Amino acid sequence: MKTTPFLLILSALILVMSCENSSESDLIEQTDPTENISYNIHIRPIINANCVSCHANPTINGASVPMTDYTQVKNVFENTNALDRMNRQPGQSGFMPLVGTRLPQASIDLVEQWMNEGYLE
Ligand code: HEC
Repeated sequence: MKTTPFLLILSALILVMSCENSSESDLIEQTDPTENISYNIHIRPIINANCVSCHANPTINGASVPMTDYTQVKNVFENTNALDRMNRQPGQSGFMPLVGTRLPQASIDLVEQWMNEGYLE
């Protein structure tokens, strides 16, 4: 049958495309939507992986504020434009993480939800 190779290629393509979906950000997206966002469970891993390399205590690379525990991180998101900076594009002035890549939108959304829910620890 002439259509067989075409069908084979098509199904292989679909297979490849459906497998591409297992990145780190998707794991974050699978968070139970009814669950409240807490620093310890959701936010700390994001900050540790993307911010603490500079925002350590004491800070490194000229970073202005430490972000190594709940009080410090809450303080930063309450009193600075941190969320806005994460939402900017790489290369834009003030973008965070500085010289890094933009965080997955799912992670940024989690931080925003955490703020809206009142910074649960
Ligand atoms: C490569 C180093 C580096 C990384 C990684 C980094 N920062 Fe920064 N950050 C800096 C430096 C340097 C400054 C000071 C210059 C400035 O304000 O842009 C700064 C400043 C800030 C400020 C301004 C604080 C204030 O006092 O107004 C915020 C907010 C901030 N960073 C948030 C973040 C967040 C959130 C992350 C992780 C998503 C992050 N940064 C990752 C280097 C970094």
